Amino acid sequence: MSNNNLFKTKIGLIAATVGSAVGLGSVWRFPSEVQTNGGAAFLIVYIACVFLLGIPVMLAEFSLGRAGRSDAVGSFRNLAPGKMWWLGGALAILTSYLILCYYMVVAGWTFEYMWESITGNLYAGIDAAADKSAMFGTKMQQYITHDTNPLIHTFIIIGINIAILLFGVQKGIERLSNIMMPLLFVILLGFCVVSLTLPKANEGLAFFLNPDFSAITPSVVIRALGQAFFSLSLGMGVLITYGSYFPRDTRLIKTSVSVSTSVIFVAVMMGVIIFPAVTSFGLQDATLNGPTLVFATLPQVFAQLPAPQLWSTLFFLLLTLAAVTSTISIAEVSIAFMQEFFKLSRKAACLVVLLPLLVFSTVCSLSLGSLSDFTVFGLTIFDLLDYTTANILLPVCSILLCVYVGWFAPKKFLKNELTNNGEFKSSTFRFIVFVIRYIAPVLITGIIVYSFL
Ligand code: PFF
Repeated sequence: MSNNNLFKTKIGLIAATVGSAVGLGSVWRFPSEVQTNGGAAFLIVYIACVFLLGIPVMLAEFSLGRAGRSDAVGSFRNLAPGKMWWLGGALAILTSYLILCYYMVVAGWTFEYMWESITGNLYAGIDAAADKSAMFGTKMQQYITHDTNPLIHTFIIIGINIAILLFGVQKGIERLSNIMMPLLFVILLGFCVVSLTLPKANEGLAFFLNPDFSAITPSVVIRALGQAFFSLSLGMGVLITYGSYFPRDTRLIKTSVSVSTSVIFVAVMMGVIIFPAVTSFGLQDATLNGPTLVFATLPQVFAQLPAPQLWSTLFFLLLTLAAVTSTISIAEVSIAFMQEFFKLSRKAACLVVLLPLLVFSTVCSLSLGSLSDFTVFGLTIFDLLDYTTANILLPVCSILLCVYVGWFAPKKFLKNELTNNGEFKSSTFRFIVFVIRYIAPVLITGIIVYSFL
């Protein structure tokens, strides 16, 4: 692998990895999970899951990628030649690609909402509307289920991905993350300040930050664990692929702690933005789950602030930034594989991976509109992909990874990676191995079983 395929700076490496992790999962899925799963109690369990389980599994992926120095399949093949473990990598690549099909569509919605905010269409007719909440709900349904509009925006997002990814790891992914991530943090901070100055901010904050421990149920724990894995981009080969771009002197434990803390920080900021805003405008009874929270409830909040278009544009820009830095990382998993396995040029690999999405993402998008009658096991294509990737494929990939790294990888491999070949000591090494060997596989199997009960 040429040096061009390594991240150039420490900051760039963290920005790119945080960029992958911080996406719609943290800015959109997290607040609605908090709302439906016990408020602050969920937050605490989520943080515990990130530190106790997420970081060790993240380290397993980083180590595999950096030691294997290849894509998700190649890294397994380099470390376990002649064995079948590469199938785990292949499954991770497949899973990430299936996720990409629908993630592009949702990223398209965020872009469409940004555009509709800029043009003012999102707020057209608001003064005359008797029931504003119904109005934004109806608009959302119209946007999402329309046959052509979401497609145009999904295609724009696919185009943006191609434009970035063609430039490769340093000049594409790293350079872009260096610009987008600071911008994202500045916008987030701005929103936090505004939200905390709203009249009933305290009430919203109390819901988000004062835990009621009796609200912690097995289902809350499982959902928090699922959220931790999704928001850290675990189990999809992303961190194996990015790990293969880490220079030899990168300290993996430090990196994983920085990435995880940033993800938690963003999630907490989103809660600090959303809950005070929602209570201040008396919307706490509105539907806050699924797409409704950001696409219907928040526009209603913005409508009550001075300059709604401005807030709305900034907010959906934030979402689009978060979504794009995640989509490029998901696409990179397949692109790296195409480059390594089929020896394609960067350009050919990008096109082979991204152009078919024009068809696959179209099917996903239409499955919410004119193809909604076509269902498999009672689910639309969109929901089917979401369900099978999150509840089955992701956990299975993570189990395979942990079993390989914990039990079958070359001796000393993990210790060498975590200590940079003994350059420094790691006081947490034993704990990390314990989690990767025992805790993670058992708990993740629990998630799969529970999700079928
Ligand atoms: N972590 C991203 C988010 O929270 O939105 C989603 C994601 C990115 C999932 C990369 C999977 C992945 F491979």
